[in-house]
Amino acid sequence: MDLFSFTIAGLMVYAALAVFFIGMTYRICHWFSTPKASIRLGMFPKPKTRSGRWLKMLKDTILFPQALDVDPTMWFMAIAFHVAGLLIFFGHLRLIKEFTPIVSALGSKGMDTLAFVTGGTFGIVITVVVIYYLFRRFASPYKDISVPEDYLLLILILLVITMGNHLRFFGDVHVADYRAYVQSVLLFRPSFDAALAHSSIRWSLVAHVFLANILLMYFPFSKLTHTVGAFLANLVRSD
Ligand code: HEM
Repeated sequence: MDLFSFTIAGLMVYAALAVFFIGMTYRICHWFSTPKASIRLGMFPKPKTRSGRWLKMLKDTILFPQALDVDPTMWFMAIAFHVAGLLIFFGHLRLIKEFTPIVSALGSKGMDTLAFVTGGTFGIVITVVVIYYLFRRFASPYKDISVPEDYLLLILILLVITMGNHLRFFGDVHVADYRAYVQSVLLFRPSFDAALAHSSIRWSLVAHVFLANILLMYFPFSKLTHTVGAFLANLVRSD
């Protein structure tokens, strides 16, 4: 692995993970140590039983039906974004360990085809949604309530996704070689195997990882903390 790749796709990954976990721990401890509001932020209508309130809290967090009433297009796009994001996240787990039961059922060629079709489809879906999110903010009334951070965050996400799609559609390296790299990072000995080191696509991987590192480090200080915060806010409401 050359020094530049080692710095970005090795050392920087550890720095990014450290900032992410320390930052998120700090944010969550801060939320828990904030005194409760004296007024009750109850849910409406409030289910009578505790399990009913839990179910409603989960529904409000996962499906956010309030947004459907206000702006159905935005709601649809938000659901598409979160579903595609979640499935892409699951897809990335294949970079740590192969989904052996699926490979046993489909064969390794079948698995690669499935990954290409699902990864490719959700990669495109999430790109379309982020472009929609971005352009939505160029027109009133959303433009009037947008701050530079809103645009920068969306552009950063779009860049991470674009490089991911580039790897998916133009990569000439097998997932096993990407996995060897990810596992080397997990074993604290970052390296590229011969296939990855000699492929020009490694620069796209380094760019993808660099942008993902920036996103990870920025995460605890951005509005992306709503991933955890939305659940906690609804938990307070269900009290
Ligand atoms: C350091 C962390 C990450 C690594 C090592 C990584 C690595 C990769 C690799 C190797 C691929 C190509 C898979 C293949 O062709 O077999 C890929 C695809 C992709 N990545 Fe990442 N990625 C990371 C983080 C992210 C993040 C944070 C996002 C989203 C914000 C993201 C979004 C995507 C997308 C949309 C694709 C294309 C669709 C797919 O194949 O799933 N990646 N990534």
